[in-house]
Order: sequence, then C-alpha cells, then structure tokens
Amino acid sequence: MKIPKPADGIVWITGASSGIGLALAEAHLARGWTVAVTARRTEPLQALAARFPGRVIVQPADITDADAINAAVAAIEAGQKIARAILNAGTYERDTAETFSAARFRRQVDLNLTGTAICLEAIMPRMIARNAGQIGLVASLAGLAGLPGSGSYSATKAGLIALAESLKFDLDKRGVAISAICPGFVKSPLTAKNTFPMPFLMEADAAANTIIKGLDANTFLIAFPEGLARPLRILRSLPYGVFFPLIARGTKGQD
Ligand SMILES: NC(=O)c1ccc[n+]([C@@H]2O[C@H](COP(=O)([O-])OP(=O)(O)OC[C@H]3O[C@@H](n4cnc5c(N)ncnc54)[C@H](OP(=O)(O)O)[C@@H]3O)[C@@H](O)[C@H]2O)c1
Repeated sequence: MKIPKPADGIVWITGASSGIGLALAEAHLARGWTVAVTARRTEPLQALAARFPGRVIVQPADITDADAINAAVAAIEAGQKIARAILNAGTYERDTAETFSAARFRRQVDLNLTGTAICLEAIMPRMIARNAGQIGLVASLAGLAGLPGSGSYSATKAGLIALAESLKFDLDKRGVAISAICPGFVKSPLTAKNTFPMPFLMEADAAANTIIKGLDANTFLIAFPEGLARPLRILRSLPYGVFFPLIARGTKGQD
C-alpha cells in the first residue's frame, strides 16, 4: 500500500472552515501539500486561501447535497487529483434518555453519516480506478462506546468506524488506504459550547498533527489522546458489568 505524499496529488478536507478541519488544512499546507477545502461558509475558506496564495482550492459545498459534492469533487479533480481525502465535516448535539428526539437523531445521521457517505461516493470510485489514494473518516472516541449524553452522536460515529472497517477489506485489494480517526476532546467551536468537564482537552493543531502522523503511518484506528483512548479501549473490551459502572464513575458530571 503506497501512502500518498504531496507529489502524488492534493488533499481534500471537508469541514475545513473551522476547528479540526481548518487545523488539518493548515498542517498539510505546512508540510508542502496543496489543499482543497470544503464547507458551507465561503469566507473562512477564502481567508485561508489568501494566507497561502496558489496552494488552496476553495470549493464550498454542503456535504448533505450529493449534486453539490459531486460537482465540487469533479471541479477539484479537473485540476489536480485528490490523493488524500479527509471527511471531517460533522456535528455534535447533546442528548440524554430524557431529551432524546428522533429529529435530533436524524440531523446528526444526515450530516455525520449520510453526508460522509455522499463524499465517499464522490471520491472513492476515482481512487479505486487509480488504484491509489487514502481516505480518513473523522469519527470520535465517542464512536468506540456509547457515552453519557451522546447517544445519537455516538451512534453516528460508531457507524463511521464500522463503515471504515468494512470498506478496508475491499480497499486493501485496490491499493486505497482507509483510516477511522477518533479524536477525544479538541478545542473548536463545537466543544466551546460544552459546559461539562472535558478531560485531556487538546488544541486543534496538536490534534491535526496527531492525525497526519497516523495517516502517514497508515494507522487504521487513529484514536487519541492516548490517556483517554487507551483506557476507553480497555474498558470497551471488559464485560458490561465492569464497563458501565467504571464509565459512569469516569464521566461523572457529563450526564
Ligand atoms: N472537537 C472535538 O472535541 C471532536 C472530538 C471528536 C470528533 N470530532 C469530530 O471532528 C469533526 C470536526 O469537528 P470540530 O470540533 O472541528 O467542529 P467545528 O469547528 O464545528 O467544525 C465542523 C466543520 O464542519 C463543517 N460543516 C458542518 N455542517 C456542514 C455541512 N452540512 N456541509 C459541509 N460542511 C459542514 C463546518 O463548516 P460550515 O459551518 O462552514 O459548513 C465546520 O467546518 C466533526 O466530525 C466532529 O464530530 C470533534
């Protein structure tokens, strides 16, 4: 499996107008990549392009709109081929058993899962046809286990991890790499609204560097920070009689 380098093409990042996506764009630019950026808001994408003249392709689109995403990918690839796609756009809406609503569930499924699927449908066949490329799906540590206050969100992110696992069997035979990216708490406009304690809260640029390190090493599950990811993965493998009380104790104040 050949992991793409800047000489092999460009990187396409969705959700690049703020937070982790913007930091990923900046970190790739710092490493010599040309970057194509997609989000709904045009101004932050153009502001990035103004800072890196000639190295940022601005393609605003809503990832839930298949026609817009297909057109965006076609427009990007009419110039340079996408060697690495990081499908990062997503959202988190808190819910509990008491506040659960199908409408909130649907909003997160539509964006986090179906929106990512729309992007995959636009780029994956092109990479398969070239027998080359790399895809990163931004899930979450909250996709490794159902955590308090995040039922709908955890369901979408667990779905993305399962999707990446399943696709890997086929993509491995086609020379296309795929990773499931599972950040813990990262400073961004998304987490700025959280009022509960966020252990091991990271800066977005540190998260971006960790993600790129994982992608460059073709790590399938890029789960971080270690201090949160490791215990969660161990707890996940234990019987539920141990898992539930320990998670409840560890997340006290978050429910
Ligand atoms: N921050 C964390 O602690 C954390 C932890 C684990 C996983 N994650 C995941 O990381 C990803 C990025 O989150 P973040 O924290 O960086 O949040 P953020 O700053 O709110 O970024 C979300 C990005 O998604 C874009 N977006 C939202 N809806 C879109 C749509 N319909 N079409 C196109 N783009 C859309 C937003 O841009 P526009 O509004 O301009 O469209 C923005 O660029 C998400 O998938 C999130 O679930 C975050």
